Amino acid sequence: MDYVFSQYQESADYLRSRLNGFTPDIVMVLGSGLGFLGDKVEDPTVIPYGDIPHFKVSTAPGHKGQLVCGTLSGKKVAVMQGRMHHYEGYSYQDVSYAVRVLRLLGCTKLILTNAAGCVRKEWDVGDIMLITDHIKFFMESPLRGENLSEFGPRFPDMSHVYTPRLQDAARESAKELGLTLREGVYCYFPGPQFETPAEVRAARVLGGDACGMSTAPEAIAAAHAGMEILGFSMLTNMCAGILDQPLSGEEVNETAEARKGPFSELVLKTLEKM
Ligand code: HPA
Repeated sequence: MDYVFSQYQESADYLRSRLNGFTPDIVMVLGSGLGFLGDKVEDPTVIPYGDIPHFKVSTAPGHKGQLVCGTLSGKKVAVMQGRMHHYEGYSYQDVSYAVRVLRLLGCTKLILTNAAGCVRKEWDVGDIMLITDHIKFFMESPLRGENLSEFGPRFPDMSHVYTPRLQDAARESAKELGLTLREGVYCYFPGPQFETPAEVRAARVLGGDACGMSTAPEAIAAAHAGMEILGFSMLTNMCAGILDQPLSGEEVNETAEARKGPFSELVLKTLEKM
């Protein structure tokens, strides 16, 4: 089902009524491993997704499914503790719904984080990758259907989805923290099955550096709506076929948990510079 503009407005009106005049500027979508950052928000207003008209709930493991609004690194944030994925059965409009609502609420910037598989042999599990661009071939767009021109144009430019200024802030933050920051292209796959080795080889040939099941849909909706975007991947595992060993959700969660310290430090330091 396509959403109409008044539904986004209803959701935004509801959030306004809960926030008592607080207006967040930056949306943060916390993927696997980073959910705990939502608990660090100061003066938080916590709103379960299920309370918000038209919102879907997140069902993926470790995704709490609530919006936490308040202050983090001195910035006014709306933190999504958990996101929606296409593999949960949601449409791409469902998956990107919250980003549009938060845009209406006044947010101008978006930080996307995720866990992803690593395509590059010479990188290591546990490395953090700054997303410089993405590939989202084959599957439909969150912008499919009637264009809601209140958000943006029918044919939005995708030349700089991930804002160069914010990428520089991330590089500078990594340097200050003494952290290795990889950079590359996030290749979107719908999941929930991990990619086959042939799909991973194809991703590499096409220019992908990491594979994952989120992020690109939200980034497309946010770029359409004129938001500045920053994206980070925690490379929790080598993609299928890179090493001769099977992949598992447990490995993803274990690496995300083990590396949440440096990952969160980088996100918080970069947030300060936004
Ligand atoms: N592929 C897709 N998504 C992922 C992976 C992967 O290897 N690891 C974590 N999320």
